[in-house]
Amino acid sequence: MKIQENISLKPFTTFGINKKAKFFTRVSTLAELKSALIAAKEKQFPVLILGGGSNILLTQDVEGLVIKLEIKGIQVVKEDEDHLWVEVGAGEVWHELVMHCIAQNWAGLENLSLIPGTVGASPMQNIGAYGVEIKDVFSSLQAMDRDTLEIHSFDGEACQFGYRESIFKQAFKNKYVITSVTFQLAKTPEFRLEYGVIQEVLQAKGVQHPSLREVSEAVIQIRQSKLPDPKEIGNAGSFFKNPSIPSNQFEELRVLHPTLPGYPSSEGVKVAAGWLIEQAGWKGKRIGDVGVHAKQALVLVNYGEGTGEEIKKLSEQIQASVFDKFGIQLQAEVNFI
Ligand code: FAD
Ligand code: EPU
Repeated sequence: MKIQENISLKPFTTFGINKKAKFFTRVSTLAELKSALIAAKEKQFPVLILGGGSNILLTQDVEGLVIKLEIKGIQVVKEDEDHLWVEVGAGEVWHELVMHCIAQNWAGLENLSLIPGTVGASPMQNIGAYGVEIKDVFSSLQAMDRDTLEIHSFDGEACQFGYRESIFKQAFKNKYVITSVTFQLAKTPEFRLEYGVIQEVLQAKGVQHPSLREVSEAVIQIRQSKLPDPKEIGNAGSFFKNPSIPSNQFEELRVLHPTLPGYPSSEGVKVAAGWLIEQAGWKGKRIGDVGVHAKQALVLVNYGEGTGEEIKKLSEQIQASVFDKFGIQLQAEVNFI
């Protein structure tokens, strides 16, 4: 394990923000991860665990050790007539795992195609798209306690998954490093096509009985039509969560704004943050080298030389104007460092 000093993190987060790590290392085994955590503890450095950097906004240099997780491996650990359980190393790239599963005809991850990042980060915010969240295919995960270096196992209940939430963003924030995740996949697909746009794309292609690959391709097509490719424009996907509001507040807002999209949620009605931001006049706005994506107002972008502080300031301006116009407080989905 090699520890490098004063490394620019620009290539390591999809926002492409030029902040530095005082120390930086890559780990590809549990032993290396242990050594890195021990080294940081001895020197009393703060630690930042990094996967693909696709849900992070750097607003300052990291005055400690960045540990980039590169633990690999995809292994079937159990199988019955209908399902298989696949244990995957935290450093595997999420979309490559999805493609691997589709190639093997293992069903369950196809709606989650093209989400950037690593497998280890996927339970952090219970990633989701097009009607599926990882909690739907999750079996268990293994995580190293950053303090005791012991490995603990968590089932779905212990992870306390919610919408873009888990215990690892709340009570256990910065306590564990997730080292592997086991998914329960199906041998026969149970397609989740209730998201209207998927049906529309499949119909337009004349597909009546889709394969896993055709569903994945439809999802990829929809995503590419609105989400910017981080290789071309820096971004971290949705910057804010879609907020849930009480039903009576939704009804009142609907009187004034009949096109406000809303979906029933456990706390009332979940409304589309992208719509709120667009209506507040931000869609496509650019301030210097940062801005709001022209095709999806929920995505903040860095056109090249934007800073984390500028994106943070823009996000606060958006929050203030959405609150002014609709009385709704937007909450960031992205992790601020
Ligand atoms: P990072 O950004 O590296 O880390 C995110 C957080 O998790 C940080 O706090 C980090 O310290 C911590 N962390 C990372 N790995 C570990 C680990 N192994 N153990 C402990 N802590 C860890 N998300 C969705 O849910 N749905 C989408 O549809 C979606 N679309 C996106 C589209 C684009 C274009 C982009 C850029 C992002 C999108 N995202 C989406 C957000 C992002 O892809 C996910 O949150 C992804 O899971 C982040 O993975 P990562 O490896 O890049 O995590
Ligand atoms: N909308 C607008 N204007 C916009 C953007 C969206 O009016 O600029 C409206 C759309 O017309 C639609 C609604 O908002 O009625 C929802 O838009 P979309 O289908 O694009 O999805 P989203 O709610 O903006 C969420 C997730 C995405 C996920 C997609 C697909 C959150 C915070 N975001 O976006 O996840 O890929 O649904 O399931 O839940 C991410 O988390 O980073 C992410 C990209």
